[in-house]
Amino acid sequence: MEAAVKRSSGAVQEDRLWQRHAEMAELGGTPKGGVNRQALSAEDAAARTLLMSWAKARNFAVFTDAIGNLFVRRDGADAKAPPVMSGSHMDSQPTGGRFDGMYGVLAAFEALEALEDAGIRTRRPVIAVAWTNEEGSRFQPGAMGSAVFAGVYKLDEMLATKDWKGVVLKDALGETLKAAPAPMRDGNPGFDVGFYVEAHIEQGPRLEAAHKTIGVVTAIQGSRRYIVEIDGEEAHAGTTPRAARKDAYAAATRIAAAMYEATNDADDTLRFTIGHVEVLPGSPNTVPGKVTFTIDMRHPDDAVLEAHEKKLHDIVSRKARPCPARIERVTSVAPTGFDTRVIDLVRAKAQALKLSHMDMPSGAGHDAMHIARLCPAGMIFVPCERGISHNEIENAAPSDLAAGTRVLVEVLQELANR
Ligand code: GLV
Ligand code: MN
Ligand code: MN
Repeated sequence: MEAAVKRSSGAVQEDRLWQRHAEMAELGGTPKGGVNRQALSAEDAAARTLLMSWAKARNFAVFTDAIGNLFVRRDGADAKAPPVMSGSHMDSQPTGGRFDGMYGVLAAFEALEALEDAGIRTRRPVIAVAWTNEEGSRFQPGAMGSAVFAGVYKLDEMLATKDWKGVVLKDALGETLKAAPAPMRDGNPGFDVGFYVEAHIEQGPRLEAAHKTIGVVTAIQGSRRYIVEIDGEEAHAGTTPRAARKDAYAAATRIAAAMYEATNDADDTLRFTIGHVEVLPGSPNTVPGKVTFTIDMRHPDDAVLEAHEKKLHDIVSRKARPCPARIERVTSVAPTGFDTRVIDLVRAKAQALKLSHMDMPSGAGHDAMHIARLCPAGMIFVPCERGISHNEIENAAPSDLAAGTRVLVEVLQELANR
């Protein structure tokens, strides 16, 4: 009966969607054309305000929760039915692109507008969501808002986390909600959700290389993140003989070299990154007394991550000497397999819209990995230029963004009537 069903995808407006990306890109815009809109910053608050102004113009209800997740709801015929939800994040890396996360939020919002413009009534409400602090570059761990929503992390523990400058998340959230006020949902974050579908740029090169428009995402690889802290002893750089030094940075470089070696797998599947290093006191002529660095490790098989965590402990205990060292595991997210009902529906809708597509796993982490614990979930990828992401030059084609949104709205419409 497909012909009798009103097609929401026909109401997706490529220009409107592109224009909204351009307006959002001005908030925290950088000279190289990217954005610096870190979680719970003034720029993040500005993005929330802008999204809420668009929601208000369409008479969609808006609300937030105790971790600052922002929801935009289009009512359904059955107010009691658990909603269908779609979204992503509006925070960025310090040198981030315009599309990572923001595309998923704007695609979801465009889906709400398309349903409205096409005059389609759904049974379930449809919600567009902007999750708090997905990137985890300012406050750790990342994907925080969706994890609290899903009951994976405790609200109180997350509110107490600090950024690298010592700002407490609860205070930054308070400032954000003061600058971008929204009605607060009572109680702990989380409510019943029927289905969740997240759109995102691929952030890798596979779709572009295969000349495909839609990635039907089947899974997300597992990831673990650590902070390694090494204590040295401050000493004079000109006078202190090597044997008398406890150089925290020298210890860090030995650990780093051994870990790069240990994670160099033949098929290039294991991902290992040291992305943040702090050397204290940070003076050219003082032997470093303290080093803190992060490790981000990912693989589709949790057992491989477990084995490499053991290697990390062994390497740190051997290579840090004579400096005492500690390893804190900040996150451990097991690989996520998406629900076959959602995967099959995304593929079927891409097919029906005559869009080229391929099944693929996600190398990056996404909020969907936490929401998949609550309800059937899935993701839709679109290509990005040369696969570049977490970079100010990140780019995507307006027609691809619109194509992904057309698939999204068709999927949401169908799920909202199930
Ligand atoms: C999200 O940006 C991730 O690090 O995968
Ligand atoms: Mn993202
Ligand atoms: Mn990202």
